[in-house]
Amino acid sequence: MKIACTGRSMALGARIAEILGAGRVEVRTTRFPDGEMYLKTGPLDETTVVVGSLLSDESLVELLLLIDACSRSEVLLVVPYLGYARQDREFKPGEPVSARAMARALSTGISRVVTVNVHKESVLSHFTVPASQVTLETEIADFIATLDLGDPLILAPDRGAASFVAAVAARGGWETDHLEKTRISGEEVRMEPVRGEPWTGDVVLVDDIISTGGTLAAAARMLAARGARGVHAVCVHGLFTGNARRLLGSAGIRELAASDTIESGNSRYSAAGAIARALSR
Ligand code: R5P
Repeated sequence: MKIACTGRSMALGARIAEILGAGRVEVRTTRFPDGEMYLKTGPLDETTVVVGSLLSDESLVELLLLIDACSRSEVLLVVPYLGYARQDREFKPGEPVSARAMARALSTGISRVVTVNVHKESVLSHFTVPASQVTLETEIADFIATLDLGDPLILAPDRGAASFVAAVAARGGWETDHLEKTRISGEEVRMEPVRGEPWTGDVVLVDDIISTGGTLAAAARMLAARGARGVHAVCVHGLFTGNARRLLGSAGIRELAASDTIESGNSRYSAAGAIARALSR
């Protein structure tokens, strides 16, 4: 077995390879004069684990080319961050189910796919090969424990995240709750507390994705106004689009952590162990 990674998933791929004791496939990409991507791999083994997050339209093309280039071997696909998953239904007439389109495209030429904390589990049913996800509640709880916050409240920013966040809290024996989120626009949300009593200790907001930062910035401001001592944020997939980091900093968020499904300076814990365990099953 060898691991072949796209350019944006190199560090995570290397960690998975190390845990599995697998070699790496050399992958080189350049551009044709007309802008099309060219990709070439080095020697393959019988099985290739292709690792690549779906972060952009360009990363989709890179993944499709890499899967095809590895087609002389059996291909197991790992998509640490499955982009386009939030458009998981036709919200308005005429829209695509983008998650389905991506899943169908990525199903070709692979025998199995593993992803991490997919936005909604139902998205997995769109793959035409066996599809599973790993969820990082243990990794997040272990990371929160390193912050030495004593007895923090582990808070979900909306109902959708509540059960995952409760699982994180259960690992550490911490209290948990969720907020009510109303989305006003792509960037703006309104946050309301569910619990009556303000929380005066430390709060760790946990979410699957941070994109613009609007959700957690609104939550952090509301919590600070209600007397929280310190507000911290941990997500699985840190997209941090535009000025998200600045927005979250100015909302008073002290610790801003994400996994390495999207590699950045905020990648403070790894999904590699969970992915390696899933591949070994
Ligand atoms: C939404 O349902 C997700 O779980 C996240 O809360 C959302 O994607 C975060 O987006 P943003 O950072 O742009 O508010």
